[in-house]
Amino acid sequence: MTTSEKIAQLEAESARVLACGGPKAVDKQHKLGKQTARERIEMLLDKGTFTEVDRFVRHRCTAFGMGEKDIPADGVVTGYGKVDGRTVFVYAQDFTAQGGSLGEMHAAKICKIMDMALAAGCPVVGLCDSGGARIQEAVDALSGYGQIFYRNARCSGRIPQISVIMGPCAGGAVYSPALTDFIIMVDKESQMFITGPSVIAATTGEEISGEELGGADTHTTVSGVAHLAAGSEEEALQAVRKLLGYLPSRAGEKPPRMPYVPGDENRPELDGVIPDHSNLPYDVHDVIDAILDPDSCMELQPWYADNIVTCFGRIGGRSVGVIANQPFSMGGSLDINASDKAARFIQLCDAFDVPLVNLVDVPGFLPGADQEHAGIIRHGAKLLYVYSVAEVPKLTVVLRKAYGGSYLAMCSKDLGADFVYAWPTAEIAVMGAAGAANVVFRKEIQAAEDPEAARAEKIELYSRQFATPYMAAARGFVDLVIHPAQTRAFLMEALELLEQKERQPHPRGNMPL
Ligand code: HXC
Repeated sequence: MTTSEKIAQLEAESARVLACGGPKAVDKQHKLGKQTARERIEMLLDKGTFTEVDRFVRHRCTAFGMGEKDIPADGVVTGYGKVDGRTVFVYAQDFTAQGGSLGEMHAAKICKIMDMALAAGCPVVGLCDSGGARIQEAVDALSGYGQIFYRNARCSGRIPQISVIMGPCAGGAVYSPALTDFIIMVDKESQMFITGPSVIAATTGEEISGEELGGADTHTTVSGVAHLAAGSEEEALQAVRKLLGYLPSRAGEKPPRMPYVPGDENRPELDGVIPDHSNLPYDVHDVIDAILDPDSCMELQPWYADNIVTCFGRIGGRSVGVIANQPFSMGGSLDINASDKAARFIQLCDAFDVPLVNLVDVPGFLPGADQEHAGIIRHGAKLLYVYSVAEVPKLTVVLRKAYGGSYLAMCSKDLGADFVYAWPTAEIAVMGAAGAANVVFRKEIQAAEDPEAARAEKIELYSRQFATPYMAAARGFVDLVIHPAQTRAFLMEALELLEQKERQPHPRGNMPL
């Protein structure tokens, strides 16, 4: 063969692979409103930056006539490129090629990309669209999944990992995304379940549609498996780009800092947020919006456990992770789901050097036999654990209620908060005034001529004396009681001060799960 023939051969080989599963399969994919793996990668990355790895990999399966079967790129496109100028590694399963099913070589390609990403210290983004384990490859396919799970776990906390679900994701295949830091699902196009509707019907007789069982709606509202549901593939991939902007490429690096021109950091609107009556709710998003840089907020799991808000944002151009009780939902109390949601987010921020901003208005852990029997002790303990071992800057602002164990659990001074600020509306106490008055003054209330009037008087007395920030401030549990309007300025200053905060990494512990 001449050199030019060899070059022509390379081009022919490339053309074969670049055609994905062929025009018919590509057409079917497009008719379903879905893009191909290669089109998705183009949408994700900065224009023209993708470099493919392992384009010419072939499977080695011969069972059930597979020996003759050509599966371009073995059903997964892998490589690296740039997002906002920073390198990320990516794999995209190609449903047009044997249903994107995962066999030995398909898995090996994904593993190679993960190994490269870890060595280079760069994030990995997985675009999942697959019929699951390639049935013909039997245990080789299962081993492939095992190899990926192993790497997901070993990369965890070292490089960011993001999964986008853009089609079916069934069986053990859902566990790789579940081991990554974020799952983004495309609404009405993606599903995740361990056992699908037909298996459930056969084994338990339960009838349920795939969408109801494991669609984006289910996983962003009921199960909490997914962090975001996007309205389209493009929206999902834009969300990946945005997420990466809050994170460093690897642990040990600082997150990218956005340019910020300091101005008047006073936010007078914060003075009017807290209602006069302590039991009236308000939307904590109003506080978050006022303390973050404009348009910098990205909320995660907004529709799941909405009694706690978790979001990324920026203050003075620096990335922060905000954890805020939401009085609008369940009075902002902490239940099992809220504890799990917040704990995982805090752990992630700690791994990637994103400082924590905790906005506290919490009446307590949610009481009730349901919560106790489902293990609120175990789940609530996760919050205590992750806040205590977190080494990133920890800034707490007590807006209003901070009662009992939940006061401690929302990153009190005792759990290592670097700064605790309190608004004058803060109520830091063992419990709310009504409950406390009933216990402390029970005998006097019962003996009074007008017990109701006596109760009201005692509640008022307790509120004035204890439901304030000043007792905590008198002991130094609060560093300063501040004017709400000045909150952003104080946080900005604290972040500046803690920029070089030294990490004293905690040896691997045993977080309650
Ligand atoms: C081999 C597969 C495949 C698979 C799809 N294909 N899934 N080949 N192994 N798992 C092939 C089909 O044979 C077909 O090939 C092509 O991909 C397109 O699939 P269609 O069925 O035509 O597509 P569609 O009608 O859209 O249906 C999609 C689907 C269905 C719902 C995903 O293909 C399906 O049910 N697949 C099997 C799902 C499954 O049970 N997977 C195993 C899960 S258990 P041709 O040649 O006809 O084009 C698992 C264990 C992992 O993953 C454990 C890890 C620990």
